[in-house]
Parts: sequence; structure tokens; C-alpha cells
Amino acid sequence: MSLDQAAIADVKELATTRQAGFALPGAFYTSQAVFDHDIKSFWNRNWIWVGHVSQVPEPGNFFRFDYGAESVVVVRDRQSEIRAHVNVCRHRGSRVCLEASGKTSVLSCPYHAWTYDLDGSLRTEREMDADFNRADYSLFSASLKIFQGLIFVCLSDQPPDLQPALERLAPLTKPFGIENLKVAHSASYPVPANWKLALENYLECYHCAPAHKEYSRSHSLKDPASMTEELLSALAENSSLAGLPVAELNETGPDAENLGSDIYYRRYPLYPGYKTGSRSGKPVAPLVGELTGYDGGATDVMIGPLNSFLAYADYIVGYRFVPRTLQETDIQIVWMVRGDAVEGRDYTIDDLTWLWDVTSQDDERIIRYNQQGVNSVAFRPGPLSNMEWGIETFYHGYLQRIGE
Ligand code: FES
Ligand code: FE
Repeated sequence: MSLDQAAIADVKELATTRQAGFALPGAFYTSQAVFDHDIKSFWNRNWIWVGHVSQVPEPGNFFRFDYGAESVVVVRDRQSEIRAHVNVCRHRGSRVCLEASGKTSVLSCPYHAWTYDLDGSLRTEREMDADFNRADYSLFSASLKIFQGLIFVCLSDQPPDLQPALERLAPLTKPFGIENLKVAHSASYPVPANWKLALENYLECYHCAPAHKEYSRSHSLKDPASMTEELLSALAENSSLAGLPVAELNETGPDAENLGSDIYYRRYPLYPGYKTGSRSGKPVAPLVGELTGYDGGATDVMIGPLNSFLAYADYIVGYRFVPRTLQETDIQIVWMVRGDAVEGRDYTIDDLTWLWDVTSQDDERIIRYNQQGVNSVAFRPGPLSNMEWGIETFYHGYLQRIGE
């Protein structure tokens, strides 16, 4: 058995040691072998939301997305097709694309200048033998899926089949006109913690009341008892305009027929006086999609286990928790507004981002303290509360996948 195989066998063994209803054992957050296995068996085999079609409007536009040791370049090619290339040169493996985003006519490797076309095919190289066959050395491509303008990639050539789940989700997200949005702002909050602690924090609102003063003032999700029939039916009547059910659709976890088809949808009311997630409660951007009023609804959506979104009537936030190293994670927040909204006239970055900026700063802090405690010899996994079912369902899919 190689060292690698021994480490993987240990991780699989570890995956069987978790007690149902409890947090994961500490090694899941402190072991390099677990982290390496997480990237290979979980991140590389799940769909990752990397961006929006508006970020590559014309041929030659590209952006890069990195996680763990992996890097992917999303580019619109000359035929106007969006492609995802693995950012590893087919010569001796250098990163090819170094810029975070931009516009280019070719992808040229900075090491020995092998140059690839936007479709990934090798176009020029120097000093190779006469029998060198260019066609054998295209950039590897990642699997790519576009759902209502959201771009997902997966490094596996057998990615999970999301299609049936997305077909069920499509009518629920259609009113938000996601394909016609644009990215107004993105921010990264680096946290010295394992990616799973950052994701788990997002998956429960048990911490919302004690940790998020600003969020809790406006979002009834912080306290299930405050989500009264009155609030729910007021929103249901109001949002019938957009035909959106005020309900929960959960196809994640133990009840899902197919773990690869995870989707989650939940629409719930903000407290009276709040039209959207903002400091004053007033709208911060023009209505999105087909919505005809600022109805004070908040809609949570998850697509696969790694990608979360929160839709208000005027903007949509995307969240992902991107692993860098064992205990370094970027909390990435992306704010999207109507594609034709003009900054300064229709929205300002300060007002648009205020809520999820303060909330993400809170999250950075609590996740950091969480990792510090988990690193202690005294850490023992404690029992999950009734408000942490999202973590339980995440564990279910995660442990199954890494144990395969
Ligand atoms: Fe890219 Fe040599 S590694 S050209
Ligand atoms: Fe939080």
C-alpha cells in the first residue's frame, strides 16, 4: 500500500466514527490527509458555482476560479461557446492563465510559451520533434453546466447528474431572472479555518440570533417561533404576484433519491418594515426579473452541497466557502443585481453590500474561534440542535461521498 492509499484508508475508516446527531470528530478539521481527500473526492466530484455568464460577455473574456491545488479558466471562445479549461499546461504543467479575469485572444503559457486557442486546442509550440502531434495536447477541459446564467464546473468527467433536480428548481427561480443579472460586487473574507467549518456555519441559523445583530433584526429565519402564520400568509398573498410558493423544498440528504441531485429551496418572510436585506429595510436596487413588488421575501437556494444563494426582490447573493489549505478558507460573497442597473443611479455598492458585509465579518470571527477550539486536545464533538438539521444532511452526503 502506498502512503497515499494508507492515508485514504484512514480517512474512510474515520468517516465511520461519527456519531449520528453529533458534530464531526476533530480530525476532519485538523488532518492534512482528510483535507487532501476532501479536494479529490468531494470538491473535484461536485459541481462548483464559479460565476455568471455576464462575466464572459464576448469571445476572449475569461475568469479564473481556484480551490485547493486546482485552477480552472472559464472563457468564451471564438464560436461564442463558454468553456472551462483546467489551468495546467500540457507541456510541463505550469499554470497557463495567471490573471484573475480579463480579455485575451489566446491562452499563452508563461513558462515556454506553448499557446492555446480559446477552445483549449494547442496552437503554437517551439522546437518539438517532427512527429509531435498538437492535437494530443489540448488543455484538459472541466465539465461545465449553465443554469439560468449561473456557471458551474466540475473536474470529474462523470459529474453528478444535476439535471432532474434543476428542472424541478427552474420554475421556482425563474421569476428572479437570474440569467439577466450582473455581478455588482464580490468580496472575499479569508478565515483561518477548515472549509467545512465555514460551510457548516452557513448551513445553520442557530448562531444567527447570538452572532448576527443586523441580520436578526430583519430575518425571521433566526427564530422559527417568530415565523408566524400571519407573516407567512402575508408573504404568500403578496408574492402570489410572482407565483412563488412560501414553502420549503428539500431534496438534500437522507430523503433524496439521488445524492447527486441535491437542491434546496426555502422562501420565508422578513420582519415587517423590511422590504429587502438592507440597513434601512428599504430597497437597494431595482426589482429583479418578473417581480412586480418589493414583497419582503427572502429565498434560500442551494444547488449541490457547495453552492448557496439568497434572493431578495432587488438583489441576489451567492455564497461559497473555498478551501485554500487545511485551515485557510475564503468566504466568497457575490452580489448580483439587474443587468441593466447602473451603479450610482440605481444602486450603490455601500448600501447593496452592507448587510452581507457585516454579517460575513461576524461569520469570519465565529468560524475562526470555532477552529481554534476544535484544534484543542479537549475538543469532543457535541450534539447538534434542532436548528442544525442542515449540518446533519450535509454530513450524510459528505460522509457517503468520501467513503466511496
Ligand atoms: Fe507550459 Fe512549458 S510548462 S510551455
Ligand atoms: Fe452566519
